[in-house]
Amino acid sequence: MTNIQTIIEQMTLEEKAALSIGASAWSTTPIERLGVPEMIVSDGPHGVRRVPNVHEVAATSLPATCFPTASCLAATWDVNLIRQMGEALAEECIALDVDVLLGPGANMKRSPLGGRNFEYFSEDPYLAGEMAANMINGVQSKGVGTSLKHFTANNQEFQRFSISAEVDERTLREIYLPAFEKAVKEAQPWTVMCAYNKVNGTFASQHDYLLNKILKDEWGFKGLVVSDWGAVRDRVAALKGGLDWEMPGPQERRVQEVVAAVESGNLDEAVLNESVRRILRIVFMAAETPKEGEFDVDAHHALAQHVASEGMILLKNNGLLPLKDQQQIAVIGRSAEHAHFQGGGSSHINPTKVAMPFNELKARSEEAEFTYAEGYPTDDSFRQDLIDEAVTLAQAADVAVLYIALPSFKESEGYDRRDLDLTNQQIALVKAVSAVQPNTVVVLNNGAPVVMVEWIDGVAAVLEGWMMGQAGGAAIADVLYGQVNPSGKLAETFPMKLSDTPAHLNWPGDAGAVRYGEGLFIGYRYYDAKEMPVQFPFGYGLSYTSFEYSNPQVSATSFKDTDGVTVSVDVTNTGEMAGKEIVQLYVHDKVSGLVRPFKELKGFAKVELQSGETQTVSMALDFRAFAYYHPEYAQWITEDGEFDLLIGASSADIRHTLTVTLESSLDLPCILDKESTIREWMADPRGQAVFGPHYAQMEADARKAFGGDDNERYATEGSIGMDIMEMFSDMPLVSVLMFQKDALPAHPEDMVADLLQQVHS
Ligand code: BGC
Repeated sequence: MTNIQTIIEQMTLEEKAALSIGASAWSTTPIERLGVPEMIVSDGPHGVRRVPNVHEVAATSLPATCFPTASCLAATWDVNLIRQMGEALAEECIALDVDVLLGPGANMKRSPLGGRNFEYFSEDPYLAGEMAANMINGVQSKGVGTSLKHFTANNQEFQRFSISAEVDERTLREIYLPAFEKAVKEAQPWTVMCAYNKVNGTFASQHDYLLNKILKDEWGFKGLVVSDWGAVRDRVAALKGGLDWEMPGPQERRVQEVVAAVESGNLDEAVLNESVRRILRIVFMAAETPKEGEFDVDAHHALAQHVASEGMILLKNNGLLPLKDQQQIAVIGRSAEHAHFQGGGSSHINPTKVAMPFNELKARSEEAEFTYAEGYPTDDSFRQDLIDEAVTLAQAADVAVLYIALPSFKESEGYDRRDLDLTNQQIALVKAVSAVQPNTVVVLNNGAPVVMVEWIDGVAAVLEGWMMGQAGGAAIADVLYGQVNPSGKLAETFPMKLSDTPAHLNWPGDAGAVRYGEGLFIGYRYYDAKEMPVQFPFGYGLSYTSFEYSNPQVSATSFKDTDGVTVSVDVTNTGEMAGKEIVQLYVHDKVSGLVRPFKELKGFAKVELQSGETQTVSMALDFRAFAYYHPEYAQWITEDGEFDLLIGASSADIRHTLTVTLESSLDLPCILDKESTIREWMADPRGQAVFGPHYAQMEADARKAFGGDDNERYATEGSIGMDIMEMFSDMPLVSVLMFQKDALPAHPEDMVADLLQQVHS
């Protein structure tokens, strides 16, 4: 065991400062005289982007398996598979000499316009957290590190290096932090990467509250915090704020800034030492895994294909799919010949090989005859000739399979999408082909939702193929021909139109800030609250078979929050074909002190069933499944009362509801103060105990002053034509007493001070 403390004691100030900044774009600074090795990092997240020489700038990386991107991974809802993929990624890191893989990304999909949504899992923090934790556990089980990114509120590309995400505390805690929290607590990533943007006015790279207080102190993160590449503005403030390692390097000027800050007393050397300790700990952990050998290219390609086929989602099917004995198949669309399987930017992988959708489709049927038309060009030009050619082929065929890929000029890291549409050419193509060929299948390759209202009614089937990774072309063919029964379900809502989306009025912000005005209500939380129709709801996906849910059970109908409950349900495959079903469990709080989303995902299970087979799936709900974050208590709280447990096949297809009663174990401090309203006094048990007896008198006095003496509502009887107690209820107690002060035994301020003393003693 290396004694890190001894090394730190032997390090010069200069060496410490140098270690806290990269030696290159991808490595730490080694210290030979003390035996501190170099540590190498590479992107991430869905493949290894290792440049041949980490000390040189290179555009092309070494070949590695390009797995499907996060949108597709999340749509598998398969935590074991994600873990397995993590293990494969680690094997590639080991073979390619990479110590830490820069991923996964656990940011929320606040708006479908986010350019990097393809790199993120979901609009739901629970699902994203499960995915991230399992991927990290998979990678790290092999002695390779990860970098959970981008911490936090990195939800758009517009002004991504500078914009301030203005998010209230509760929304941060309930929406933007939980996926990170789960991943940190359940998987301890070796590193966490801070976001480029500011959060509530402070750069995420120097955010003491986020990095020191929440991540390190509250959650117990043991690893190092690395900057996103180029995210640091003020190195010294960043060290103080909890950022241990700045990337990229080398940056001699920064090293000198740190040295000077310590020498001048502006930076306590203990702060630098703590960052150095965290860095050394990870550097030595990484060195324990020898980087050698080769990875199994074919096995990983096969795994990438399996993951892709689990993540693809059958969105519409009028019975045409799976393809059977159709003889003439018109294959239309550039992406059939030129697979669109990953997104642009830092996650771009140099694949070991690529399965071309057209070739793969042809290989699935010996009898059928396949024709091909390009359909749309690479750029945004409109080419009627390509549409005409496609229509001619489609007319002559039994089936048209349209491969439609959202081009990178419409979706990539670095810029947001401007709309949710396909290109004009693609829309016109789908409409023209489906007008002459009722048996039209649309296969989409994109990283985030597209709107379909204009064309979906005319087509027979839609398969969401995502950015499907290098083997995705084969997965599409398997699904179209029924060699794989599709089972993926949406990890994000597909809206009808852009203006329906939750962040629409607060996107992308201006004057340096973006206000998260929709608060807790992103994704299905928003559409639920607005009772708004969507194209496809969160959790939705079709299969070639059908499933029935029966016999819902809960381990206890009354329970203590700390004990939690377990929910089970029997799932039966009622169709002809073997298949997989993803069962979802949402929690609905019937009455709550603060506003809550109507329902929230708190559990899920994926089960494989042969035709006719039944299995019982179970899902456990813990304290957090029922809790919400109360900003005034500054903690997660539960409240006594009833909850509905909704078991569904999607967020919009709830099959069973169980009602349970929770008993809170919390003994919350009293938060009544001088400004508390009468309603708040009466809602608080301690407040009610001391103020309750006075309430009756107050009501009688109010009635006397403003209303009649009978028991009628003031709204009809009162002298000022309103329900006076209703109005009083939302006024601070002291203000109401002021109206009555002449009749009171003491001054209202003294009376309230006295009551407050009683409730707080
Ligand atoms: C991206 C990170 C990435 C890093 C290194 C940044 O621009 O935001 O996700 O890991 O570059 O390539």
